[in-house]
Amino acid sequence: MPQERDPHLPLTEINPAVPHPARIYDYWLGGKDNFESDRMAAEQVIAAVPEVRETARENRAFLGRAVRHIVAGGVTQFLDIGTGIPTQGNTHEVAQAADPAARIVYVDNDPMVMAHARALMSSTDEGATTFIQADLREPDSILTHPRLLDTIDLDRPIAILLVAIMMFVKDSEQPYDLVKRIADAAAPGSYLVVSHVSSDLLTPEAMERTLGVYNRASATMTMRTREEIIRLFDGFELVEPGVEKVHGWRPEGPIPDRPTAVYAGVGRKR
Ligand SMILES: C[S@@+](CC[C@H](N)C(=O)[O-])C[C@H]1O[C@@H](n2cnc3c(N)ncnc32)[C@H](O)[C@@H]1O
Repeated sequence: MPQERDPHLPLTEINPAVPHPARIYDYWLGGKDNFESDRMAAEQVIAAVPEVRETARENRAFLGRAVRHIVAGGVTQFLDIGTGIPTQGNTHEVAQAADPAARIVYVDNDPMVMAHARALMSSTDEGATTFIQADLREPDSILTHPRLLDTIDLDRPIAILLVAIMMFVKDSEQPYDLVKRIADAAAPGSYLVVSHVSSDLLTPEAMERTLGVYNRASATMTMRTREEIIRLFDGFELVEPGVEKVHGWRPEGPIPDRPTAVYAGVGRKR
């Protein structure tokens, strides 16, 4: 009989030969934590979707605006699933700049992401950061993890960050049920933050070429329509302006008139 896997143990190994979404994204953001296979895949997506580097930067900027909005709303506990390789404006930096007592649980299923995150993302003395290598598709392994329970209090509102990760969950993996399971564990007044690549924002050709690159990577990509992305917020009230193009969500300056492949939004649990 196959042995049951300990849900608190790491899931994946680093394989430099197979492009990985975290390292492809790191390349677009100008990072150095990527391998030849990642750079080739990233360049292939740039050839299909020339605005992708700008969109990656805009996605990070959205993350920062959403985190500041949430801290201003009085919530200082963050569950950031799909952390990504550390770069500028990481969740704990933005949150703790606004409130040094902010507490952050970072979750990612990639061992390289977690190794860099543990080394580079240290907390203020007043707040806390912790790191869990786990998979979003096994939400209970996250929600019952001792480090999560030691760091954030699920009886008080939290912010669930699913920023640029849901497109790595296939329809057959029940994305709506996964979000609901995590949302059900969060107290009323909690926030949900989502950004997602959308089939509504790409030409069929750009979409097909991008999906082809990810089909050869360690995680396939599923694009969703704006309506399907809005459905992820079931049980949450969308904060104004709702699900918008990523650079158009509460911009701090004039909204640039340029293409993007990503929709983003923030909701508050009723
Ligand atoms: C494109 S990056 C986004 C990073 C960051 N959230 C941001 O928006 O800047 C996606 C991250 O999600 C992680 N990821 C993908 N699928 C995952 C899963 N099923 N469980 C946990 N992490 C996952 C990847 O390893 C990667 O670090």
